[in-house]
Amino acid sequence: MLGMYPTFYVPYIGSAWVMGIIGVIHVVASHTSVGAAFLFAVLETKAYRDDQPEIMGFIKRYGVFLLVFSYIIGSITGPGIWYAITVASPRGVSGLIHNFVWVWAAEWVYFTVEVIGVYALVYLIGKVDRLTHLKLTWSFALASWATMLLIVGILSFMMWPGNEGWYLTGSTNDAFYNINFFAHLGVRTGSMFVMAAVVGFMVAAGIKDEDLKRGVIRVIAPIGLLGGLFSVMMFLYYLQTLPTNAKVMLQAYLIPAYANTMIGIFVATTAYLVFVWWKPHRLKLYIAVPMFLAIAVLGVWPEERMRESMRKPYVAGQYIYSNQVIARDVPGKSIRGEVDLIAEKGLLKLHPFIPDRLREVTDDNRLEVGELLAKIACANCHALEPGAPLRSIPDKLYGSPDKDMIAAFLRGPLKHGAAPYMPRIDLPDQEVDAIAAYLASVNAGTLEKSAASHTSAPITALIEREGK
Ligand code: HEC
Repeated sequence: MLGMYPTFYVPYIGSAWVMGIIGVIHVVASHTSVGAAFLFAVLETKAYRDDQPEIMGFIKRYGVFLLVFSYIIGSITGPGIWYAITVASPRGVSGLIHNFVWVWAAEWVYFTVEVIGVYALVYLIGKVDRLTHLKLTWSFALASWATMLLIVGILSFMMWPGNEGWYLTGSTNDAFYNINFFAHLGVRTGSMFVMAAVVGFMVAAGIKDEDLKRGVIRVIAPIGLLGGLFSVMMFLYYLQTLPTNAKVMLQAYLIPAYANTMIGIFVATTAYLVFVWWKPHRLKLYIAVPMFLAIAVLGVWPEERMRESMRKPYVAGQYIYSNQVIARDVPGKSIRGEVDLIAEKGLLKLHPFIPDRLREVTDDNRLEVGELLAKIACANCHALEPGAPLRSIPDKLYGSPDKDMIAAFLRGPLKHGAAPYMPRIDLPDQEVDAIAAYLASVNAGTLEKSAASHTSAPITALIEREGK
């Protein structure tokens, strides 16, 4: 038996989107908090140097806003990510914990400092002397950024370690300082200033005192602009640090799908920041709120989705496939690849969570076994319902009910790992047969569509294309 876990299946959107939705909310909340911490530090330094105590009023307002929104939403979605990934990718999480447990422990310490810091910052304004408060704010900013830095090391290892070193040593250092760590950290550090500025505008829009409003905006708008520029530069650098499979995915699917949105949102955000910088008094809540929502949703969703998709077929470190199978040996961690063993013995024998009555394929249970195997082997990346948004397999098979053609796809491209974004899924004949029978029956159930969509021609082309 392999050390696999039960499969958690979410129809239509897959556990991938559940994770994605929670993740995007978390990124918006957390990046805003970290970016805002630095805006506070800069603003407070200005307040202290130029003796402008009224700026502290803005910091307090923004701080309370963060406490109520960012920190509550961030602290709910943070554990939410843990719950989601633990059921969606238990082995991925296990792999990360076995590399980074102390990094996470350190992150937790900084996070505690951050949370205490934000309360202290808000409630100690005017209660301690100004220099002490200023030091507190800078400590809060640095602790906040430290949480980001530590998490980015883990997230960027998920993409890949970048060289063979870590596979041999298994050391946390080799995992943490992976090839795209600095680029990734740069992207997030730049974008956190953009988020913090855009959220800051919502807070500033409500300020009655026009001088204060202008003074504050004239500090945060340029920081947001510089952050955005830096983020884009680091993103271009980041693209240079990606593994081949990620580059294929990027060229073939992601750039066509997201490039226009990303460029559009960059131009719109830059224009917005410049406009508000130039005419601070024109900033109103009815502009600031929709702009924030647009930037948060249209800017963060494609970015996070791209990063997740590019990593395919792996969930972590280019050694754990998204469908939880270990792709290769990792001598540094005494981990053995499982693909060949599965090819020889089959998932039905090796997976601990297969009900006994389904361990042998019979004419009675073939479709049920096929469904279970499809859920185990494919559903981390694909929905099984026709028309579903997460790369629906029935749609990818052009709705074809032709079982033999589907089996040929499984025995061809999938078995040989010909698609760089899919795992090598090599299964014994009877398992291939069960999956093909199940997928064919799903498609046969949706036969109302036009006859043209049922021809096997597109699949034949697919097999030929990927066979090369
Ligand atoms: C690691 C994630 C992953 C797993 C697991 C996976 N796929 Fe895919 N599959 C992809 C991606 C990514 C694409 C590219 C298309 C896209 O993004 O829409 C794809 C594309 C496809 C296509 C379209 C043809 C092509 O090559 O582009 C078919 C058919 C398909 N998958 C079937 C399956 C089946 C059947 C299984 C399970 C036995 C499976 N996939 C498992 C990620 C995966």
